[in-house]
Amino acid sequence: MPQLFGFDKVEIRGPKPLPIIGTMLSLYKLLDDPVQVMTELRPHGEVVALIDQSPAMVFVFGAERNREILSQPALFKHDEDLIKAPPGSAMDTMRRYGMVNINGDLHKRERRLMQPAFQKSALDGYATDIIATTRTMLEGWKLGEVSMVDDLCREVTLAMAMKCFYGLDIGEEAHSLGHLAAEWGKTLVAPTTILLPLNIPGLGYWKSLKFGEEVVAYLRSIIQKKRHLEADQRDVMWMIMNARDDQGELFTEDELIVQAAALFFAGHETTAITLAWTLMLLERHPAIHTALMDEIETALGDREPKPDDVMQMDLLDRVIKESMRILPAVPFLFMRVCAEDTSVGGYAMPKNSNIMISPLAAHHDATRYPEPKRFLPDRWLNTTPSPYEYMPFGVGSRACIGMLFAERALRLMLPMILQRFRFSMPAGTRIDRLTRGNILHPRHGLPMRLDPASSPAQPPAPIIGDIQELLEY
Ligand code: HEM
Repeated sequence: MPQLFGFDKVEIRGPKPLPIIGTMLSLYKLLDDPVQVMTELRPHGEVVALIDQSPAMVFVFGAERNREILSQPALFKHDEDLIKAPPGSAMDTMRRYGMVNINGDLHKRERRLMQPAFQKSALDGYATDIIATTRTMLEGWKLGEVSMVDDLCREVTLAMAMKCFYGLDIGEEAHSLGHLAAEWGKTLVAPTTILLPLNIPGLGYWKSLKFGEEVVAYLRSIIQKKRHLEADQRDVMWMIMNARDDQGELFTEDELIVQAAALFFAGHETTAITLAWTLMLLERHPAIHTALMDEIETALGDREPKPDDVMQMDLLDRVIKESMRILPAVPFLFMRVCAEDTSVGGYAMPKNSNIMISPLAAHHDATRYPEPKRFLPDRWLNTTPSPYEYMPFGVGSRACIGMLFAERALRLMLPMILQRFRFSMPAGTRIDRLTRGNILHPRHGLPMRLDPASSPAQPPAPIIGDIQELLEY
């Protein structure tokens, strides 16, 4: 069998890295700009090593390799040591119970307990809150000004998340919890925190431990308050607080807190960024924007959408699908780790090798998606990719548990925004990408001018920046 170590067949791009320092540099490059690393490695085959020393770091590409890894979750596990945490700390609790850090029976139990809150039958209960929070937040968006549209989308989804996930109205408490959790998320995934997990005051790792304690204290108090509420609530936390596993057991308090934090990390930023990228893509493509506005006008006129309406708006569906193909909020899945010596695509893969899978690479595969860099919603009229070729929400037993929720929220929020505003990017705007954690952001934000939806369409002004390596128009 060809060996990964020694590069019998697997090639690493560029000069062979220097021992130790080369590995650190490769890791730093990966943390700093994984899209660049992926783009450089892709031409070298389906199984390509970025780091060849144990533990190896390998990218796999193509539907067959994606299937090989993602259909065997017991062999290619989530990394249980992803988070380094002092025992007893909030981060340690995350490490022990966080859904993305666990495997096997514990993962199955947590998923089973969470599932009822994300079933189709639960979704209608959230729709009213999604619509109401979006309406309230959009009232604060300012016409005639250039605003960072990614920040605006973040604020809307924050209000939506606080209400739908925890039952909190957006007020001071929800605002500070949201911002604290967002800061925790940011420090947690900063390259310096990951490369230097040192508990020294001022360093990123120290800050993320501190934010973690504060968020956990907040969530603990919310859960305690909710326990004293008499009436049935319809938020996600309420449902998972009352869910029972096969043995009739409830989540423990620590498990509940971790799920509460995970909901925020996994559900807030991903939804906000998908919304923001979609608004940018529509601004870049006025003809598609006009066609979508016609569909919204025909289906809704001036009224707000209802869940039944949006499920029948076919162009809306194709626009969101295509946006998540071309700029997926999650361009890389969580790293998988080989549980034992094994092989991938015929290459020996030693135990503990780390494997990267990229929805972005899958979505830009020209054999499946001709002209992959072009935003062509109508390609979905005759494209039916396999789950390993289109995976904005992942695949299989580790796929996104909030997928139906997110799909519903996006399809309600986007028409509500477009009914009120038209967006335009100032000429010369720089849009660079930034992948932090596994989320694809605009590095310097998405500045756009907001005008009334009824204002005339303008041709999009030229912009600059490396996002254009992923887009063509
Ligand atoms: C547009 C929005 C969203 C996108 C693009 C997205 C994407 C993803 C992806 C790609 C994964 C799989 C990661 C992997 O296999 O490594 C995932 C997992 C997950 N997502 Fe989402 N997500 C979104 C919204 C949400 C929402 C709204 C929630 C909850 C309210 C949520 C909760 C989760 C959880 C808990 C997991 C871990 C599942 C597990 O490991 O079993 N996500 N998401």
